[in-house]
Amino acid sequence: MNVLIVGGAGYIGAHVVKACLSAGMTVSVFDNLSTGKKVNLFPQVRFIPGDILDTKALDAAMQGQQAVVHLAAKKAVGESMENPEKYAVNNITGTLNVLNAMGKAGVRHIVFSSSAAVYGIPHIPEIDETVPTNPINFYGFTKREIERFLVWYERLRGITFVALRYFNAVGYDAEGDIRGLESHPQNLLPIVMEVANGTRQELSIFGHDYPTPDGTCIRDYVHVTDLAIAHVQALTYLASGKASQILNLGTGKGHSVLDIVRRTETLTKQPIRYVFAPRRHGDPAELRASAAKAKEVLGWQAIHSDLDTIILTTWARYQR
Ligand code: UD1
Repeated sequence: MNVLIVGGAGYIGAHVVKACLSAGMTVSVFDNLSTGKKVNLFPQVRFIPGDILDTKALDAAMQGQQAVVHLAAKKAVGESMENPEKYAVNNITGTLNVLNAMGKAGVRHIVFSSSAAVYGIPHIPEIDETVPTNPINFYGFTKREIERFLVWYERLRGITFVALRYFNAVGYDAEGDIRGLESHPQNLLPIVMEVANGTRQELSIFGHDYPTPDGTCIRDYVHVTDLAIAHVQALTYLASGKASQILNLGTGKGHSVLDIVRRTETLTKQPIRYVFAPRRHGDPAELRASAAKAKEVLGWQAIHSDLDTIILTTWARYQR
């Protein structure tokens, strides 16, 4: 299969590229390298430098492709609330450009990076795909709206899709093939790693008065290698002519912020300095996926997502 991976130089994208190459697919990467890294580009891929706001570049990149994996997006939740225009243009307009180019070129399948952020603050901690979407940040709103566009592009243009709602993506390729580190990370684990390796002085823990056992937020951390495998399975699924799907990708297990801090201290043998800070606006106390549907539809299961594997593979990249 010829697959165009839009955003394939990014953190999740590069892991998806590796999984697709391992599955024997022919991979082209389209990326503007705004957050993606050259060092993440595998020598076996055709690299097409380009921006999803450049419709001509997208038209050219679609030639000869059979499927698209679309991961190019802005993803900082806080920034999306301060600069919604940037998220509207990059995430929504950019994705419409991808879909329009697919329509023109006759590319009929897309795997889309969605997010647990579409759910907002659900009333139950373990979420399946029937839980109503109700994003509480603009980032999550863009992902939810794109899922809705996908439904119409299927009806009107025959493009079938799998939208993968990632929970918290973490970890690194265990073989060390993906080396690019995020430049100004805002997510928990990269920040904890920067404290562990001395790049950063301390971690601010956002809230310790949540109704959880230790008072800090609980999230469903899923290894990026597991996420990557799901993309290969989704591509194979779509290529066999099956119906579009929206699927959660998570483990169903939760870890608190303090669980992450303490286990990282034990495994890295480095002290993690932290302070308690006020709650971050829009953080639900607990988010966990039910991934039963992904198992049923794709046969997917998280097999690399135990906390020790997550921390050790990440530490291997951050260790100086
Ligand atoms: C959010 C989105 C998720 C998205 C991801 C991309 C929601 C509900 N989730 O995940 O869908 O894919 O961003 O960036 O919108 N924390 C600290 N200190 C820090 C950083 C984080 O205490 O310096 C805590 C947070 O409060 C949270 C946990 O660590 O409880 C994880 O945070 P983070 O890694 O930012 O991911 P989410 O906000 O869960």
